[in-house]
Amino acid sequence: MTHYAKVLGTGGYLPEEIRTNDDISKTVDTSDSWIYERTGIKSRRIAGANETASSMAEIAARQAINTAQISPDEIDLIIVATGTPDRVYPSTACLLQHRLGIKHCVAFDVQAACSGAIYGLSIADQYIKTGAVKNVLIVGSEICSRIVDWTDRGTCILFGDGAGAVLLGSSDEAGVLSTHVYSDGGYEDMLYCPNPQAATEANKHQVGTISMRGNEVFKVAVNTLERIVDETLEANNLEKTDVDWLVPHQANIRIIAATAKKLKMSMEQVIVTLEEQGNTSSASVLLALHEGITDGRIKRGQVVLLEAFGAGFTWGSALIKY
Ligand code: UT7
Repeated sequence: MTHYAKVLGTGGYLPEEIRTNDDISKTVDTSDSWIYERTGIKSRRIAGANETASSMAEIAARQAINTAQISPDEIDLIIVATGTPDRVYPSTACLLQHRLGIKHCVAFDVQAACSGAIYGLSIADQYIKTGAVKNVLIVGSEICSRIVDWTDRGTCILFGDGAGAVLLGSSDEAGVLSTHVYSDGGYEDMLYCPNPQAATEANKHQVGTISMRGNEVFKVAVNTLERIVDETLEANNLEKTDVDWLVPHQANIRIIAATAKKLKMSMEQVIVTLEEQGNTSSASVLLALHEGITDGRIKRGQVVLLEAFGAGFTWGSALIKY
């Protein structure tokens, strides 16, 4: 029997504080119009002092579990994608497992920057397809605001905080159709965030904030995402017109529009959240999926293409029949 990974439920959490472009333009040399025109972002959420990746993950996860109408004890595997873990270890997935009161499942983190949720979906799909597990909780949770250099106008305008979750369950009905994930570690210098705890005498002053050559990353992202979209459709013998929804990583509206154009899709068929959320890294695709499903745009039986690109570089896609 074929085991498909079916979407049983989704969840999302955004912290209360809203930081607008106008707020940022009070501290760095930028403007609302520059940010909006170049990125599509108007505002982003900022986590409170007591919030962590695991506390935000818990809220999104509980919502996904409730919608899926299963008990936390039925979860066999928890995957958390995050670049801003509470601790180096235990993993944020273990902390989340404890918060959810689950005792005996497997829990681990995935670190693939903005592609983390797609990596999580891919891993979960392999586990479910083989029949090894039934229910998998995947969460992307990020406090990007704590690793952003708030004096660097090239990066601080982009990122935001939040958590997205999806619960996949084994089904004989079609669910995840295919996933495609890749990495190329040769691009470290274009986008990275040092770990100050791992500094040596030689680089002891390194700070743990994001460095990015935005314009170069932009170009590689557009080309790479165009290629992965083709690969995903070919692998499933599908035409562009067979895809009902594009749920992209939310880095820049111009990158999203280029991918939609490649798919010959109108922007009406694209779930866009970045205007009010910015780039929430590994949380963004799952937050967008959650929004599209909960507001009724994405309907059961429709074909949804998720994709992401991030530091590493890492990139990937997941084609899902919802
Ligand atoms: O999620 C992981 C992957 N990340 C991405 O995909 C991010 C990809 N990159 C981007 O989204 C864009 O490259 C940015 C939004 C970061 C920058 O947009 P851009 O159109 O590529 O601008 P640019 O870096 O080529 O800079 C153009 C000009 C420069 O000034 P000069 O040298 O032409 O005088 C920058 O100094 O814009 C200047 N600039 C700004 N001006 C006002 C850069 N940031 C700002 C700013 N406000 N915030």
